[in-house]
Amino acid sequence: MTRILGVESSCDESALALLELDRAGRPHVVAELISSQVELHNNYGGVVPELAAREHLKNLPLLFSELEQRVGADVLKSVDAIGVTQGPGLQGCLLVGMNFAAGLSVAWEKPLIGVNHIEGHLFAAQLDNPDLSPPFLALIVSGGHTEIVQVNGLGNYSIIARTTDDAAGECFDKSAKLMGLPYPGGPHLAKLADSVTSSPYQLPRVMRGQPEFSFSGLKTAIAQLVKREGELDQRKRCELSHAVQSAIVVTLVDKLENAVRSSGIRTVVISGGVAANRALREAVGRLSGVTLALPSMAHCTDNAAMIALVAGMRLRAKHGEWDGVVRPRWPVENLA
Ligand code: KG4
Ligand code: ZN
Repeated sequence: MTRILGVESSCDESALALLELDRAGRPHVVAELISSQVELHNNYGGVVPELAAREHLKNLPLLFSELEQRVGADVLKSVDAIGVTQGPGLQGCLLVGMNFAAGLSVAWEKPLIGVNHIEGHLFAAQLDNPDLSPPFLALIVSGGHTEIVQVNGLGNYSIIARTTDDAAGECFDKSAKLMGLPYPGGPHLAKLADSVTSSPYQLPRVMRGQPEFSFSGLKTAIAQLVKREGELDQRKRCELSHAVQSAIVVTLVDKLENAVRSSGIRTVVISGGVAANRALREAVGRLSGVTLALPSMAHCTDNAAMIALVAGMRLRAKHGEWDGVVRPRWPVENLA
């Protein structure tokens, strides 16, 4: 059995998790804690990096005390390694988490393993589907990322498609903002969208048939539509949300379907914050011949269990040297 403490602080969630991997590598989450900063950043309409870093500095020790109370100090200290998000993400935020994890590593004399946050999302579905194993296709859809990755094994990834401009989550959030919804707009917009079954609004199905994703054209179309409509009543807001959600989902599913066809891989994972979207989950579930492995809602968005999982896999594969470098940009395909 391998026991790992995971630390995540790359954006606006501070999170800790204690995870165990059995002999076969099947993960079991012993305890996980998260502290979201959504309310703080809501005042500014987006994440303020400096404030986010200060919040991590305040929250990580609090979460740690709580975790210690839950599982016991001795159990925590008995970990085989500490895994921490080393990138990609906000520089100051990453530094706070890495420094915290490095402190524990020194105090406990346990190895420290830097984890790529996107690699965490790639394997997050395994937390809730312990028998999932590569090869599989992962649709990573979050506030900063939109890509389809072919996962051949640990550290062996090829990008099948990625966005040329905005991320899917960004498109949800910017559209929501245009409609006057609170930050982060994705879940708010989704809730309105799901309250109606159809919409009279037509939005372009951007880049259909093209290999890459692009969401900036969609965002412009939504901006024009909102401007034309002027004052939005609740019904219009719901119908507009429905149209936005449908356009984003159709675009994502179209590319995913092509990726399944061209790769011949039929096991599909969706991960990242937008994977919490009900319409997307249902649309991918309807793809014929595809076996879908979904993370629980809590493991779609940023969490520390997925970081601990990758750290555990890397510890076992002896692929986790700590080089102490912060990597705000760190392409997942360069992770041999
Ligand atoms: O992975 P994540 O928690 O953070 C990173 O960006 O790394 O993803 C956050 C994104 C935000 O854009 C948020 O609006 C979106 O995920 N999101 C959703 C839903 N829940 C979260 N978008 C659409 N529908 C949802 N239910
Ligand atoms: Zn993320």
